[in-house]
This record gives sequence, C-alpha cells and structure tokens, in this order.
Amino acid sequence: MKRLTLLSLAVAVSGLAAAQPKADVARGEQIANTVCAACHAADGNSGIAMYPRLAAQDAEYIILETHLIKDGKRTTGAAGTMMPLVQSLSDDDIRNVAAYFQKQQPKAGEANPKENPELGARIFRGGLADKKLPACMSCHGPNGAGMPGGSTAKDGIVAYPRLGGQHKAYVVEQLKAYQNGQRTNPIMVDIAKRMSADEINAVGNFIQGLH
Ligand code: HEC
Ligand code: HEC
Repeated sequence: MKRLTLLSLAVAVSGLAAAQPKADVARGEQIANTVCAACHAADGNSGIAMYPRLAAQDAEYIILETHLIKDGKRTTGAAGTMMPLVQSLSDDDIRNVAAYFQKQQPKAGEANPKENPELGARIFRGGLADKKLPACMSCHGPNGAGMPGGSTAKDGIVAYPRLGGQHKAYVVEQLKAYQNGQRTNPIMVDIAKRMSADEINAVGNFIQGLH
C-alpha cells in the first residue's frame, strides 16, 4: 500500500516537472493589446484580409507559427512586417498571448454568393473523389473549428488549425504557398497541389463565411 502511494507520488511529481506552468492569460491580453492589435485586432478578429484572424485559433498552432515568423522561417504574405515586432517576446509571452487569443470569441465573415460557394462547400465537406482530394472538414472540422494535434504532435502536427471565418484572400494565399513550397507541411502541400486556382478560390470563399 505504502509502496503504491510512493510510486504514484513519483509519477505525479515527474508529470509536474514535465508540464509547463499555466499560461498567464491576463499577461497575454496585455501583449495582444500592445503588440498584436494593430494588425490582428485586440480580440483576434482582424477585419483586414492580409492579417489572419487569430480568435479561437488553437494555442499550440499560434505558438508554432509565431515562432516560425519570429525566426524568419515563415515568410509568406506580409509576415516580414510582423517579424521585427515579435523579436523581443519571450517563449513564455508567446505562450501567454496564444492562450489569450485561443479564448477569444471568433467572428466569421461572409461568403460572396457570386464566387461559387457551392463548389467550395462541396470541396470542404466531401472533397473531390476524381482528384483524390480529401474533404477539408475531415481534419479542420465540420464548422472549420479545427482540432488539437494530440498524439500526432511528434510528426510535427501540433494542431489542425481553425479555418472557419478566416479571410478568403488569406486562405487562398496560404494554399498557393503550400503549392509553391513556401510552406512545407507535407499533408497540405499534397492537398494544395491537387487543387486548381478555381477550386482554391471557391473553397476560400466558402471558408470565409463558415462558422
Ligand atoms: C505589423 C503587423 C503584425 C503584427 C503587429 C503582428 N502580426 Fe501576426 N501576422 C501578420 C501578417 C501579415 C500575417 C500573415 C502572413 C501571411 O500572409 O502568411 C501574420 C500571421 C500570424 C500568425 C499565423 C496565423 C495562421 O493562421 O497561420 C500568427 C499565429 C500571428 N501572426 C501571431 C501574432 C501575434 C501573437 C502577434 C503579437 C505578439 C502578431 N502576430 C503581431 C502581421 C502582424
Ligand atoms: C489530413 C488532414 C488535413 C486535411 C484533409 C486538410 N488539411 Fe488543411 N491543414 C492541415 C494541417 C495539419 C495544417 C497545418 C499545417 C502547417 O503547420 O503548415 C493545415 C493548414 C491549413 C491551412 C493554413 C491555415 C492557416 O491558418 O494558415 C489552410 C488554409 C488549409 N489547411 C486549408 C485546407 C483546405 C482548403 C482543405 C481541403 C481542400 C484542407 N486544408 C484539408 C491538415 C489538413
């Protein structure tokens, strides 16, 4: 009995040592207001297409991408304008601000009815069998809310990011970045390379209105 207690104590202590301290959301809010708000909006619901929405995005994904941009390893779009502004953030502060944005209420945009939302919906929900294109929702969720990476994190997938309500122009640009090798996640590279410009446009339009 005593042994068992000691053993479970040892397990609990080693678990504690491995776990990171809890993120400080109040500190994260401060950073969001002072550093990120100018571009991403204080609540992460940027209204400007070139600045991705961060509200309700998976914190692990925000941490990963912020580090990639900080270290100059992600240079898509206008990421270069963000790079100098996050240089002074510590790893803890990046975790804090990520936890803050994950807690924000997401707002969706609207799909443009003239830009083939039907095709976009079809691709998002069912994929295109003839092109072996998988349904986006199988990883990004039926409403585009995303999913944690969980056990696959060791393969470099920290999360299946939230897409719902994201700006169309941003989504289109990222799919092109996977096509041209600027972004290298092998799953998304394979998927994007199966898509035509029209299909990318249609799915981006559908995603903008998804919530
Ligand atoms: C000067 C404007 C600017 C500021 C300030 C800024 N960013 Fe960004 N950020 C951008 C741009 C532009 C992109 C999109 C780059 C692209 O098109 O790929 C981006 C992308 C991101 C992404 C990737 C999102 C995704 O869906 O992949 C994250 C995460 C992010 N920013 C977090 C932050 C955080 C956290 C802060 C504050 C600490 C911050 N940014 C401050 C301009 C900015
Ligand atoms: C098998 C799982 C899977 C499927 C299916 C999938 N994705 Fe992804 N997607 C991911 C992962 C994982 C990432 C994060 C990749 C990274 O770190 O760059 C991602 C990232 C993205 C991003 C970048 C998000 C951002 O905030 O920058 C976009 C856009 C995207 N996917 C669109 C799509 C679309 C459109 C489809 C359907 C045609 C789709 N995905 C299908 C796994 C998937």
